[in-house]
Amino acid sequence: MDFAVLCVSDRCSEGICEDKSGPLIKELTAGYGKTKEYMIVPDEKEKIEKALIYLCDEVCADVVFTTGGTGFAPRDVTPEATKAVIEKEAPGIAEGIRMKSMTITPKAMLSRAVSGIRKGSVIINLPGSPKAVKESLDFVLPVLPHAVEVLSGNTLNCGGDYGKGGD
Ligand code: MTE
Repeated sequence: MDFAVLCVSDRCSEGICEDKSGPLIKELTAGYGKTKEYMIVPDEKEKIEKALIYLCDEVCADVVFTTGGTGFAPRDVTPEATKAVIEKEAPGIAEGIRMKSMTITPKAMLSRAVSGIRKGSVIINLPGSPKAVKESLDFVLPVLPHAVEVLSGNTLNCGGDYGKGGD
Protein backbone atom coordinates (compact mmCIF):
# COMPACT_ATOMS: atom_id res chain seq x y z
CA MET A 1 0.00 0.00 0.00
CA ASP A 2 0.99 3.60 -0.57
CA PHE A 3 0.34 5.97 2.31
CA ALA A 4 0.21 9.72 2.78
CA VAL A 5 0.31 11.50 6.12
CA LEU A 6 -1.19 14.91 6.85
CA CYS A 7 -0.42 16.53 10.18
CA VAL A 8 -3.04 19.16 11.04
CA SER A 9 -1.68 21.54 13.64
CA ASP A 10 -1.28 25.31 13.94
CA ARG A 11 1.75 24.96 16.19
CA CYS A 12 3.54 22.36 14.07
CA SER A 13 2.88 24.30 10.87
CA GLU A 14 4.43 27.39 12.47
CA GLY A 15 7.46 25.40 13.61
CA ILE A 16 6.72 26.10 17.31
CA CYS A 17 6.21 22.39 17.91
CA GLU A 18 7.78 19.29 16.43
CA ASP A 19 5.29 16.86 14.90
CA LYS A 20 5.81 13.50 16.60
CA SER A 21 2.63 11.81 15.35
CA GLY A 22 3.29 12.08 11.59
CA PRO A 23 6.69 10.33 11.80
CA LEU A 24 5.13 7.75 14.14
CA ILE A 25 2.44 6.96 11.55
CA LYS A 26 5.19 6.52 8.98
CA GLU A 27 7.07 4.17 11.32
CA LEU A 28 4.02 2.11 12.38
CA THR A 29 2.79 1.64 8.80
CA ALA A 30 6.21 0.71 7.39
CA GLY A 31 5.44 -3.01 7.57
CA TYR A 32 2.41 -2.45 5.36
CA GLY A 33 3.81 -0.15 2.69
CA LYS A 34 5.51 3.13 1.94
CA THR A 35 4.65 6.70 2.91
CA LYS A 36 4.81 8.62 -0.37
CA GLU A 37 4.05 12.07 0.99
CA TYR A 38 4.03 13.84 4.35
CA MET A 39 2.60 17.32 4.83
CA ILE A 40 1.83 19.71 7.67
CA VAL A 41 -0.99 22.25 7.47
CA PRO A 42 -2.57 24.59 10.05
CA ASP A 43 -6.08 24.04 11.45
CA GLU A 44 -7.75 25.79 8.53
CA LYS A 45 -10.54 24.01 6.69
CA GLU A 46 -9.62 25.19 3.20
CA LYS A 47 -5.95 24.28 3.57
CA ILE A 48 -6.82 20.85 4.94
CA GLU A 49 -9.25 20.24 2.06
CA LYS A 50 -6.68 21.33 -0.52
CA ALA A 51 -4.03 19.05 0.98
CA LEU A 52 -6.43 16.08 1.11
CA ILE A 53 -7.43 16.59 -2.53
CA TYR A 54 -3.76 16.73 -3.55
CA LEU A 55 -2.90 13.57 -1.57
CA CYS A 56 -5.86 11.64 -3.05
CA ASP A 57 -5.95 12.98 -6.62
CA GLU A 58 -2.30 13.73 -7.38
CA VAL A 59 -0.26 11.54 -5.02
CA CYS A 60 -2.89 8.76 -5.36
CA ALA A 61 -2.15 7.32 -1.92
CA ASP A 62 -4.16 4.20 -1.08
CA VAL A 63 -4.64 5.47 2.46
CA VAL A 64 -4.35 9.08 3.65
CA PHE A 65 -3.97 9.44 7.41
CA THR A 66 -4.60 12.77 9.08
CA THR A 67 -3.45 13.40 12.62
CA GLY A 68 -4.85 16.13 14.86
CA GLY A 69 -7.72 18.57 14.85
CA THR A 70 -10.46 16.04 15.59
CA GLY A 71 -11.43 17.27 19.05
CA PHE A 72 -13.59 19.99 20.59
CA ALA A 73 -11.13 22.89 20.44
CA PRO A 74 -12.53 25.93 18.62
CA ARG A 75 -10.07 25.54 15.73
CA ASP A 76 -10.49 21.74 15.34
CA VAL A 77 -11.96 21.30 11.82
CA THR A 78 -10.26 18.20 10.40
CA PRO A 79 -13.52 16.16 10.34
CA GLU A 80 -15.38 19.00 8.59
CA ALA A 81 -12.64 19.32 5.94
CA THR A 82 -12.62 15.55 5.45
CA LYS A 83 -16.41 15.41 5.05
CA ALA A 84 -16.17 18.15 2.41
CA VAL A 85 -13.83 16.10 0.18
CA ILE A 86 -14.96 12.49 0.57
CA GLU A 87 -17.34 10.93 -1.96
CA LYS A 88 -18.47 8.08 0.29
CA GLU A 89 -18.40 7.75 4.08
CA ALA A 90 -16.69 4.75 5.65
CA PRO A 91 -18.04 5.21 9.18
CA GLY A 92 -17.03 1.75 10.39
CA ILE A 93 -13.36 2.70 10.43
CA ALA A 94 -13.84 5.78 12.64
CA GLU A 95 -16.39 3.97 14.81
CA GLY A 96 -14.07 0.98 15.18
CA ILE A 97 -11.19 3.18 16.25
CA ARG A 98 -13.38 5.00 18.78
CA MET A 99 -14.85 1.75 20.10
CA LYS A 100 -11.42 0.20 20.63
CA SER A 101 -9.99 3.44 22.02
CA MET A 102 -12.80 3.79 24.56
CA THR A 103 -11.68 0.50 26.10
CA ILE A 104 -8.41 2.32 26.82
CA THR A 105 -9.69 5.79 27.78
CA PRO A 106 -13.21 7.30 27.94
CA LYS A 107 -11.65 10.49 26.56
CA ALA A 108 -11.67 8.74 23.16
CA MET A 109 -15.33 9.76 22.86
CA LEU A 110 -14.05 13.32 22.44
CA SER A 111 -12.57 12.51 19.04
CA ARG A 112 -14.95 13.54 16.24
CA ALA A 113 -12.80 11.71 13.67
CA VAL A 114 -14.40 10.55 10.42
CA SER A 115 -13.28 8.27 7.61
CA GLY A 116 -14.29 7.97 3.99
CA ILE A 117 -13.39 7.35 0.37
CA ARG A 118 -12.30 9.80 -2.30
CA LYS A 119 -11.62 8.22 -5.70
CA GLY A 120 -9.14 5.38 -5.00
CA SER A 121 -8.07 6.64 -1.56
CA VAL A 122 -9.32 5.96 1.95
CA ILE A 123 -9.01 8.96 4.27
CA ILE A 124 -8.74 8.16 7.97
CA ASN A 125 -8.71 10.85 10.67
CA LEU A 126 -6.57 10.02 13.69
CA PRO A 127 -6.31 12.07 16.88
CA GLY A 128 -3.24 14.22 17.42
CA SER A 129 -1.33 12.61 20.27
CA PRO A 130 1.28 9.92 19.53
CA LYS A 131 -0.34 7.71 22.18
CA ALA A 132 -3.73 7.94 20.47
CA VAL A 133 -2.14 7.41 17.05
CA LYS A 134 -0.50 4.18 18.18
CA GLU A 135 -3.62 2.87 19.90
CA SER A 136 -5.74 3.65 16.83
CA LEU A 137 -3.34 2.24 14.25
CA ASP A 138 -2.73 -1.01 16.14
CA PHE A 139 -6.42 -1.73 15.71
CA VAL A 140 -7.10 -0.48 12.18
CA LEU A 141 -3.92 -1.40 10.26
CA PRO A 142 -4.59 -5.14 9.85
CA VAL A 143 -7.89 -4.38 8.07
CA LEU A 144 -6.45 -1.91 5.56
CA PRO A 145 -4.95 -4.33 2.99
CA HIS A 146 -8.42 -5.79 2.45
CA ALA A 147 -10.04 -2.34 2.36
CA VAL A 148 -7.61 -1.22 -0.35
CA GLU A 149 -8.01 -4.44 -2.28
CA VAL A 150 -11.80 -4.10 -2.35
CA LEU A 151 -11.61 -0.41 -3.23
CA SER A 152 -9.48 -1.31 -6.24
CA GLY A 153 -12.26 -3.63 -7.44
CA ASN A 154 -10.97 -6.99 -6.21
CA THR A 155 -13.61 -8.70 -4.05
CA LEU A 156 -12.29 -12.26 -4.37
CA ASN A 157 -11.13 -12.55 -0.76
CA CYS A 158 -14.14 -11.00 0.94
CA GLY A 159 -15.15 -14.21 2.73
CA GLY A 160 -11.54 -15.14 3.50
CA ASP A 161 -11.89 -15.47 7.26
CA TYR A 162 -15.15 -17.38 7.14
CA GLY A 163 -14.18 -20.60 5.43
CA LYS A 164 -14.74 -21.75 1.90
CA GLY A 165 -18.42 -22.61 2.15
CA GLY A 166 -19.56 -19.34 0.67
CA ASP A 167 -20.95 -18.07 4.01
N1 MTE B 1 -7.87 7.92 21.36
C1 MTE B 1 -6.99 7.07 21.90
N2 MTE B 1 -6.88 5.84 21.39
N3 MTE B 1 -6.19 7.41 22.94
C2 MTE B 1 -6.25 8.66 23.49
O1 MTE B 1 -5.49 8.94 24.42
N4 MTE B 1 -7.31 10.89 23.41
C3 MTE B 1 -8.57 11.59 23.15
C4 MTE B 1 -9.20 11.32 21.80
N5 MTE B 1 -8.87 10.02 21.28
C5 MTE B 1 -7.19 9.60 22.95
C6 MTE B 1 -7.98 9.17 21.86
C7 MTE B 1 -8.55 13.01 23.44
S1 MTE B 1 -8.02 13.45 24.99
C8 MTE B 1 -8.99 13.97 22.54
S2 MTE B 1 -9.18 15.58 23.02
C9 MTE B 1 -9.43 13.58 21.19
O2 MTE B 1 -8.90 12.32 20.85
C10 MTE B 1 -9.16 14.58 20.08
O3 MTE B 1 -7.78 14.72 19.83
P1 MTE B 1 -7.22 15.73 18.73
O4 MTE B 1 -7.93 17.04 18.90
O5 MTE B 1 -5.75 15.81 19.01
O6 MTE B 1 -7.49 15.18 17.37
